[in-house]
Amino acid sequence: MSTLLRIDSSALTQGSNSKHLAEQYQKQWLATHPQGNIIHRDLAMQPPEHLSEAMIGAMYTPAESRSVEQQAALSDSDLFLNEVKLADTLLISMPMYNFGIPSSLKAYLDHIIRVGESFTYTEDGPKGLLKNKNAVIILTSGGNYTESPYKQFDHVTPYLKTALGFIGLEDIKVVIAPNMAKEETARQQALNNAEEDLLSAV
Ligand SMILES: Cc1cc2nc3c(=O)[nH]c(=O)nc-3n(C[C@H](O)[C@H](O)[C@H](O)COP(=O)(O)O)c2cc1C
Repeated sequence: MSTLLRIDSSALTQGSNSKHLAEQYQKQWLATHPQGNIIHRDLAMQPPEHLSEAMIGAMYTPAESRSVEQQAALSDSDLFLNEVKLADTLLISMPMYNFGIPSSLKAYLDHIIRVGESFTYTEDGPKGLLKNKNAVIILTSGGNYTESPYKQFDHVTPYLKTALGFIGLEDIKVVIAPNMAKEETARQQALNNAEEDLLSAV
């Protein structure tokens, strides 16, 4: 049975462009995977904790030596990692906030990019441990950073490709809906284009 892990990060509960696109992908995915299992995390509704000294200490303590407190400090990280390991596809939707990813998503990634769990150090350098998964990233932005000279302001796409690549994901599809702050025709056109691109990736 296939599993889709959907992670939304817009702060909006109503009228979110990125969640709308994620919803379209999910519907299409369910149509093609009728027996599929969906795990849904809305990081705005349930924000992950920021990394703490206790969490970092526990992450770098070998599992068999962790105290009860250290095990507790990693409970969310363990839960998120289990979901990621279970998933065949990671669907991550986000708005651009101040040229980067929402802070809730950064906090989430800090839980799942974990030594010994999703990556390891080898003689040849760090190596990703998550295999046989793909990621679909949905990015919405008020402006348009898809072309030069504004492309350099998009710190979302290169960051996510690096971060997800670091933990072993090789198949990463990025769908961008720019112009969300432009007039309605441009906004709708960008949404339609993104939806078409997105559904071809299911
Ligand atoms: C706090 C905040 C910061 C934003 N920063 C940017 C930005 O740096 N660049 C940009 O193009 N749009 C920016 N936007 C616009 C959003 O990316 C855009 O409205 C997007 O569609 C929001 O996604 P959502 O509808 O899923 O919430 C920002 C919006 C907010 C609320």
